[in-house]
Amino acid sequence: MLDGKRILVILGGGIAAYKLLDTIRGLRRKGAQTRVIMTRAAKQFVTPLSVASLSGEKVYDDMFDLTDETEIGHIQLSRDADVLLVAPATADLMAKMANGHCDDLATTCLLATDKPVLIAPAMNVRMWEHPATQTNLQTLKERGVTVIGPDEGEMACGEFGPGRLAEADAIIAAFDDHFASSPVGIVGGDVLPLAGKRVMITAGPTYEPIDPVRYIANRSSGKQGYAIARAAVALGAHVSLVSGPVHVDVPDGVEVIPVETAREMMAAARAELPAEIGIFTAAVADWRTVTPADQKMKKTAKSKTPKLELTENPDILATISQLKKDRPQLVVGFAAETENVIENAKAKLKRKGCDWIVANDVSQGTGVMGGSRNTVHIVTEDGEQAWPEMSKDEVARKLMAAIAAKVNASA
Ligand code: CTP
Repeated sequence: MLDGKRILVILGGGIAAYKLLDTIRGLRRKGAQTRVIMTRAAKQFVTPLSVASLSGEKVYDDMFDLTDETEIGHIQLSRDADVLLVAPATADLMAKMANGHCDDLATTCLLATDKPVLIAPAMNVRMWEHPATQTNLQTLKERGVTVIGPDEGEMACGEFGPGRLAEADAIIAAFDDHFASSPVGIVGGDVLPLAGKRVMITAGPTYEPIDPVRYIANRSSGKQGYAIARAAVALGAHVSLVSGPVHVDVPDGVEVIPVETAREMMAAARAELPAEIGIFTAAVADWRTVTPADQKMKKTAKSKTPKLELTENPDILATISQLKKDRPQLVVGFAAETENVIENAKAKLKRKGCDWIVANDVSQGTGVMGGSRNTVHIVTEDGEQAWPEMSKDEVARKLMAAIAAKVNASA
């Protein structure tokens, strides 16, 4: 999909700059043409020679080079590109972009361009979390800049948290998404694989009330379901996302139906059918209180510790898998397991009557609920596939590509 696409890379000065070498190589392997501008600081971290060898082009770095200004000025550099990538987008580069500074070739091109801009931030966690950076980030987002990452993890400075440069695969995938997303489902004359298809996704936790202020819930962040919704839109699908309460940005082009309880989720999911594809990522509470109290339960001197009487919630995945009418052509469930991942997933596939189960181990490491990475197994009636650890965005894209291939093969 990147064949012939012209990407102007603004290479910023951060410890993660060396990682861009892989990204540039990956973009070129997919057929893109890359031209790179290095900031002065970037040259402290990688040499222009390595960058030129991988990008296959002269590296630009000084707007006052008069020869270049006559041959190819900064306006021309950004005009020649289909899209710009700023990576690593340091706190300084983001601040300059947000405020319109232009004191070198990189920032001048960024101010002069009318092309889409993608940025992959990377910096120390405290610099990332600083209100100044967050305000700049918001400004850039509001102007339509696409933000890739940052990832969370251990950093070169020894601290832990968000601020790591997104992996090369994720940056390259963002370009796939960028060139794939088209409201009418057509890119460069090719019809997208899920154009005209409906996808219904459940996501997030459910809240089961105990009284007006208290509820039973779980640690689901909703990130995986939202990432799948975004990936499905990028393939041209009409996506409805039935979502429990989460703090995740709604992807462009996705219709969200907010719900709280399992029973509300069931009714909303049912109302979104018929759909060709149903994906059930929600961590639905298995039980709810039989009778939630009308008023806040009080802890008075005489009151005993309350006992909650629970009853089972409807199983949304099993119910929709077993529908006679309106069953989606492909029903995909998720299984969060803490032991015997594959056996439990196989048993769940049978018990619920769905077609695929995406299983992950939530007991340790990257699978723990709320994280941004995932290691999953795809279990179908024909067997199973183990996928390596990757970001939730990558799981989403790979899963949606596999789903599109399956649905189109059996159409
Ligand atoms: N699911 C659902 N409705 C429920 C419970 C689960 O739709 N009431 C769906 C989830 O969205 C997920 C799959 O079923 O796709 C498996 O969820 P999980 O919680 O792992 O399964 P349970 O049936 O609750 O099994 P257990 O808790 O015994 O592992």
